Amino acid sequence: MVSSLKFFFTILLLSFVSKGLSQECTLDNLKIDQHRTQRIIQGKPKWNVTVTNNCKCGRLGIVLSCPGFKTVEVIDPAILKPTNDGRCLLIQYKILKPHDSVKFSYAWDPPILMLPQKALNFCGDKSSSSSSKATNNP
Ligand SMILES: *[C@@H]1O[C@H](CO)[C@@H](O)[C@H](O)[C@H]1NC(C)=O
Repeated sequence: MVSSLKFFFTILLLSFVSKGLSQECTLDNLKIDQHRTQRIIQGKPKWNVTVTNNCKCGRLGIVLSCPGFKTVEVIDPAILKPTNDGRCLLIQYKILKPHDSVKFSYAWDPPILMLPQKALNFCGDKSSSSSSKATNNP
């Protein structure tokens, strides 16, 4: 009797812990990787970019800072859409699933510094938002 009660409380505790972890979806675990490729397009190097959602929730309405974004290689605006104010919308209005990633390429010299600026967390039962001012931009 006592041990089954203990078991019950352990499960209760564990479910609180996992709930707590699932809420740790900040801009820090929206990871952006850029790699220079061997290809040169109209004299500009081509860059491969991967944005990975390292949290347990889906991310919605992802905005990246992308100051001065330009490319000589066309990008589908459904994947990345510059908004002419130094920001880019990633996969407009679609959800980036937990631990999923989006890939795109652009060609420019120098590379564009891209940082996550805003995202809604879509955890199934509820959503919350995280955002930051791009204070560490040069
Ligand atoms: C860049 O992306 C393309 C298309 O997904 C892929 O074929 C290529 O291997 C990638 N190159 C590098 C250096 O990551």
